Amino acid sequence: MSGRIVSATDDAIGEAAALLRDGRLVAFPTETVYGLGADAANADAVRRIFVVKGRPADHPVIVHLANANAVAEWAREIPAAARALADAFWPGPLTLIVPRAAHVHGIVTEGQDSVGLRVPSHPVARALLAAFGGGIAAPSANRFGHVSPTTAAHVAADLLDKPALILDGGACDVGIESTIVAFRGDVPLLLRPGAIALADLARVLGRVPLVAERDAPRASGTLASHYAPRTPASLLPPDVLRAELAQLVERDEAVAVLARMLTPPEDFDGAWIAAARDPAGYARDLYAHLRALDAADADALLIEDVPQEPAWLAVRDRLTRATHGEDDDRD
Ligand code: TXA
Ligand code: MG
Repeated sequence: MSGRIVSATDDAIGEAAALLRDGRLVAFPTETVYGLGADAANADAVRRIFVVKGRPADHPVIVHLANANAVAEWAREIPAAARALADAFWPGPLTLIVPRAAHVHGIVTEGQDSVGLRVPSHPVARALLAAFGGGIAAPSANRFGHVSPTTAAHVAADLLDKPALILDGGACDVGIESTIVAFRGDVPLLLRPGAIALADLARVLGRVPLVAERDAPRASGTLASHYAPRTPASLLPPDVLRAELAQLVERDEAVAVLARMLTPPEDFDGAWIAAARDPAGYARDLYAHLRALDAADADALLIEDVPQEPAWLAVRDRLTRATHGEDDDRD
């Protein structure tokens, strides 16, 4: 049997660890999104991740570790600032890009001199890492070009029976991918905003990290086209959204709306979801909402803009990508 969704009991976690040792792929929950895991020390197994996702091989993958001590096995050097972030935020939704150890396979790092490392906090991810004993290479468990999965059912919808096992640990709490900080030169670089606020990174680092340009070459997750639904989507201020909606409805177009403060017009019969008003709640359900609205097969998806405030940085980043669908380069 393959592609089973199983409740993440101790037995299932033990079986998943055995499958990983066998070079098979296992999908598992983390606090951010579900990952598609392979033994990071097995190049063939990691290569299969790319095939299953339909993702080009020129994107590095994150190696997940059971605890911060394991970093020494994967990084040849850990800058003091990276160590400080690890102490402050691991286990948790933070990925550190650090100089790689010599043995790390090129398929994991895309042949680069750096490796992405993360110690997740989700109890199932931690139990799986402990049972497996090594590093687990895992990108988000979605098909390339789709939004990340935040439930086991999302994984199955995207990857069908390709993973040998899908461990079901319920819906992810954070809901968007980890914050990524790279240590290449002297100044830490925020490659991807996530649940950890810029101000909290700055407090630990003693300085505000540089924020990467949106199409910085080494983090494909920063290309504008990632995390996109299939329905043509636009991000609009509330008043503009209301006007656009009226026009589309007038033209008999099917519209789906991800609202936040707005309420639906009285006669509206399209798909409408009211998202949470706070950034953490909004992020938690964002991808599930995008999937649900995408499934409505509307002609247009209108997304109500979120506040221009630092607390919304990561959500705004994902929304901006979701509404730039032309590119075909997506993780
Ligand atoms: O929350 C997360 O980070 C999830 C869970 C499963 O841990 N993983 C995830 O992986 O989002 P993925 O592959 O979908 O996105 C990871 C991003 C990619 O954009 C990749 O290019 C970047 O991290 N990345 C990984 N290793 C890197 C490296 N050595 N240098 C620069 N970017 C790297
Ligand atoms: Mg991804």
